[in-house]
Amino acid sequence: RPQMEEGAGASALRPAVCRAKGGAPGFKAAILGAAGGIGQPLSLLMKMNPLLSVLHLYDVVNTPGVTADISHMDTSTVVRGFLGAQQLDAALTGMDLVIIPAGLPRKPGMTRDDLFNKNAGIVRTLCEGVARCCPYAIVNLISNPVNSTVPIAAEVFKKAGTYDPKRLLGVTTLDVARANTFVAEVLGVDPRDVNVPVVGGHAGVTILPLLSQITPPSSFTQDEIKYLTDRIQNGGTEVVEAKAGSGSATLSMAFAAAKFADACLRAMRGEAGIVECSYVASEVTELPFFATKVRLGRGGAEEILPLGPLNDFERAGLEAAKKELRESIQKGIAFMSK
Ligand code: NAD
Ligand code: LMR
Repeated sequence: RPQMEEGAGASALRPAVCRAKGGAPGFKAAILGAAGGIGQPLSLLMKMNPLLSVLHLYDVVNTPGVTADISHMDTSTVVRGFLGAQQLDAALTGMDLVIIPAGLPRKPGMTRDDLFNKNAGIVRTLCEGVARCCPYAIVNLISNPVNSTVPIAAEVFKKAGTYDPKRLLGVTTLDVARANTFVAEVLGVDPRDVNVPVVGGHAGVTILPLLSQITPPSSFTQDEIKYLTDRIQNGGTEVVEAKAGSGSATLSMAFAAAKFADACLRAMRGEAGIVECSYVASEVTELPFFATKVRLGRGGAEEILPLGPLNDFERAGLEAAKKELRESIQKGIAFMSK
């Protein structure tokens, strides 16, 4: 199949590159799983990002329509669509940033780990493509179960000899967005003024909000701490149940993924002092992967920040999180050693 390109008629007359931004060239990003529930709104938001000059939309279904649609937005980013496995390499070649929301979402009654059997193979195939075609790209991995898919991606890159732990980032921004929202509701303030560090991983008890470290510094009653921790840990399930079988969080996730990708792009451009929570290779605990605040830079997660002081409630939460995380990480690594 031919590659689809924005304004194919016009680009036959003048190459697409001439129609990209007039100023300095921007970054090139690919979204893998671009036709999905997250992929479509994320494609829309990334088409609006002024730091991107090129956006590649890849999926195994429906990219012609999504690409045609998104490409009519009058922003300067050039959009190209790629459909099916035979176009994966073309989608990835030359990319600086690869965002991966490909794979099955949960239905009510399922855990994220129930997605492992389907999504592990999808993530492996896509990351093999990254290793082949854009080994220096920064990867933002969204596909669940993130606690296992990030270790899978790391093993793929190790096998290919391209692994740089700084460039592989599991996206946990939605946990932070939820924590900010729910805490703001309790405090009666604007969520944009709240920042809650969320550490650990991205499933149930592994999602550990550090309410003792929030900005602005605030204190909570024991009941508030229990309510907030529970709601943040089960925010994904709240959406899955409300959607009643039609999927999991897509719109808030696209918002969170676009925010995180923008933070990565600004850091790649050289902006200093960008700190976000992300699930990365880490020595903060005895586990090989852990989500904490990380300082982003040109090369990805350039500094993993420490956990900071925890109270008794958070220390107990940390032990529960590590117990589950250890198994999820092991499961991912074992999948790749088969
Ligand atoms: P969806 O089913 O709506 O979309 C997934 C897309 O992936 C589909 O378009 C599908 O065709 C595509 N896909 C399947 N196999 C592929 C392959 N081999 N290559 C490329 N694309 C492929 O699902 P969704 O709601 O968009 O969720 C996607 C994933 O993101 C799920 O695993 C979900 O659990 C996860 N998720 C993660 C977070 C997070 O915070 N990290 C939040 C929400 C959802
Ligand atoms: C979320 O947190 O919304 C995602 O991980 C999707 C899910 O399955 O809950």
